[in-house]
Parts: sequence; C-alpha cells; structure tokens
Amino acid sequence: MSNPSLLILPGDGIGPEVMAEVRKVIDWYGAKRDLAFDVSEDLVGGAAYDAHGTPLHDDTMAKAQEVDAVLLGAVGGPKYDVLDFSVKPERGLLRLRKEMDLYANLRPAQCFDALADFSSLKKDVVAGLDIMIVRELTSGIYFGEPRGIIEEGNERVGINTQRYTESEIDRVARSAFELAMKRDKKLCSMEKANVMESGVLWREVVTEVGKDYPEVELSHMYADAGAMQLCRWPKQFDVIVTDNLFGDLLSDAAAMLTGSLGMLPSASLGAPMANGRPKALYEPVHGSAPDIAGQGKANPIACILSFAMALRYSFDLGDEATRLEQAVEKVLADGARTADLLGEEGVDPVSTSQMGDAIVAALDASL
Ligand code: NAD
Ligand code: IPM
Ligand code: MN
Repeated sequence: MSNPSLLILPGDGIGPEVMAEVRKVIDWYGAKRDLAFDVSEDLVGGAAYDAHGTPLHDDTMAKAQEVDAVLLGAVGGPKYDVLDFSVKPERGLLRLRKEMDLYANLRPAQCFDALADFSSLKKDVVAGLDIMIVRELTSGIYFGEPRGIIEEGNERVGINTQRYTESEIDRVARSAFELAMKRDKKLCSMEKANVMESGVLWREVVTEVGKDYPEVELSHMYADAGAMQLCRWPKQFDVIVTDNLFGDLLSDAAAMLTGSLGMLPSASLGAPMANGRPKALYEPVHGSAPDIAGQGKANPIACILSFAMALRYSFDLGDEATRLEQAVEKVLADGARTADLLGEEGVDPVSTSQMGDAIVAALDASL
C-alpha cells in the first residue's frame, strides 16, 4: 500500500516558520514510528500571488483535491492589503475550503494544566477546560450572494448576504451531534434567531436533527449571549455548533481561554472520499501574525496540534495523535514557553524552533 499523502501549504508570515516545526514532527513519525507520509509542498496566499499572480494556482487546487490531507500554515499580511479583493491571500484559503466542500470546521479549545495560570481569566474558570467549537465553513455570510460594493444614489453600499439552506445546516449539525456522542453528549447551538431568519431556520433544523440523537442534551443560545457565557463559565459547554461568521469570532475568543491564539488547532472536514476518510484541511486558528513574523517568536503548537488532528481524523491514528498531544503537554509542564505564553517572572522565552525541538525530544521520550 502506498504511503498516505500530505500536501503542505506553509503560506505567509509565521506560516512557514511554524510549518518547519511540523516538518520535524512528520520526520520523527517516519523515522521512529515507521509512519512515512508522501509529503509535497506548494504555495498559497500571498506567496502564491507573488509567484503566480493568484492566491491559489489551479494546479495547487487540483493537488489539494487528490491528497489524503492538506496542512496549511497561515495566509495574509499588510503587504497584500492594497490588492484587489479577488486576489487577496485570504481568497486562496476560502477557495480551498469552498471547492473541497469542507463544511465542518472543528476548533477544539483545551486548557493545558501548565497554562491554567496564564489565561487572562481566573484559573478556576479555565483549568481543565475542553470544549469543541464546530464552525460551519462553506456557506453563510462569507459566501452568500448578492455581495459587493455598489453605487446607490450618491454613495457606495457594501453588501454581504447571510444565507443558509436546510441541507447545509443539517450536515454541519450532524457532524456536531456525532462529535457530541463521542464526548460528553452535550451540544449547544448558537445563532441569532431573535433577529435573523437564517437563525430561525438554523434553530429549527438543528432541533430536527437532534431527534436522531436523543442521547445528546441539546440547548440553544443567542450567539451574543454565547460569547458572554464563554468568558463567564466556559466549562458549561461541551460541543458548540454555530455558523461561519459567529464561529470565526467565538473561536478566537475561546483561544484566549487556553492562554494564546498560538495554541488553537483546527480540522476542516468534508464528506467522505472513496477511501472512507473525510476530505480534510488542517490549519491553526491563528493568522500570519505579521507583527512577529521572521523573528523566531511564533508559537508552533497550534500548527503541530493541527497535525495531531490529521493523525486522528484523516489517518485513524488516534493513539499517535494522543502521543503528540501528550508530548506538547509535557513540554509545557516542563516550563518551555514561547513569547506569547510568557507571564511568569524570570522565565526566558524559547524560540519557535526550540519549541519544535523540545516537542520532538518529548516524542522520543515517549517511546
Ligand atoms: P493573527 O492571528 O495573525 O494575529 C493576532 C495576534 O496574535 C498577533 O498579535 C499575533 O502576533 C498573535 N499570534 C497569532 N498567532 C500566533 C502564534 N502562533 N504565536 C504567537 N503569537 C501569535 O491575526 P491578525 O493580526 O488579525 O491577522 C493577520 C493576517 O493574518 C491578516 O492578513 C489576516 O487576514 C490573516 N489571517 C489568516 C488566517 C489563516 O490563514 N487561517 C487566520 C486569521 C487571520
Ligand atoms: C480563520 C481566518 C479566516 C476566516 C480568514 C483568513 C479567511 O480568520 O480561519 O479564522 O475568516 O475564516
Ligand atoms: Mn479567524
């Protein structure tokens, strides 16, 4: 049987820096666990624009459709702010999500014990936190038509449309219920049914899907109240399912419960391929962090944990995913901190590559 295939798209800013550390982890699995991957690398975002004048070349799109999993670093940066909207780096990532039909974006927020003191929230609010946000990723206001900037009278109008079909809500709700079944069997759906018709439909469809999962305790919350509850007492949640835009905001907020945006991985999953595995793209929740790019300061853990999610969701290697997550936990428990995780007096930060090396050493120690 051939090796599983991985397409790596490092992207822009800190993307290539954190991805270099993931490469060390991938090499470790090849050398020490006899788990070789066929890895290819390509451009996305601003890097692709610089080379080809488009944030995602058609050949790269085609490759992404063929591989077992795609791993992406980050896209974007101030250099590209002047570009026309249609060729901005972010369009490359959105095209991947849309054309691969990656409708369920899993964004786990877990607070490692070693970082419980570091969150901007009180320790007892975040210690032991383990929640999963399921963000709809291929529809909603990100993609709805009509959109654009039009002339109306003597001024311009910016337009985006929130639009959800029943089937789009149904399939992401099912993903969330399935996850809840494997966890604490609690699902909270967030929308704004009080002001948006798409929210009314969302609530109706999620409730209907819930009839197929009688063991799961389903609740509904307006997304604004949900944001407040995430900060007040996040441990009340197990799985949260929400739309594309609310999911973007709520997951960045959830990142700070774990200590840093540099900690949050994600898996974007679509329908099963012929081999039964879902189409998948794995990426950290954070962006290209232009303020720290090129300085060796980036935290590679979000990207490394995204690879752990690939092991679990694309390659049926849950035990190896757990091994990697435990290696990260050990390194944090031993006190290694990239600059974003500093708060304690007298602790010097480790660099991006020192953090990667420490995680590989912890993997070695796990054998
Ligand atoms: P950002 O996530 O890049 O950065 C926000 C803050 O978090 C910055 O202070 C940054 O230094 C810090 N940070 C983020 N990741 C970190 C890490 N791994 N280690 C340490 N610190 C980290 O968000 P932004 O500044 O709003 O956006 C910058 C660019 O990234 C924009 O072009 C945006 O569109 C893009 N972006 C891309 C993605 C993606 O590729 N998935 C996600 C979000 C933003
Ligand atoms: C994310 C990012 C993206 C989004 C951007 C870069 C397109 O913020 O993955 O969270 O808005 O979905
Ligand atoms: Mn975001």
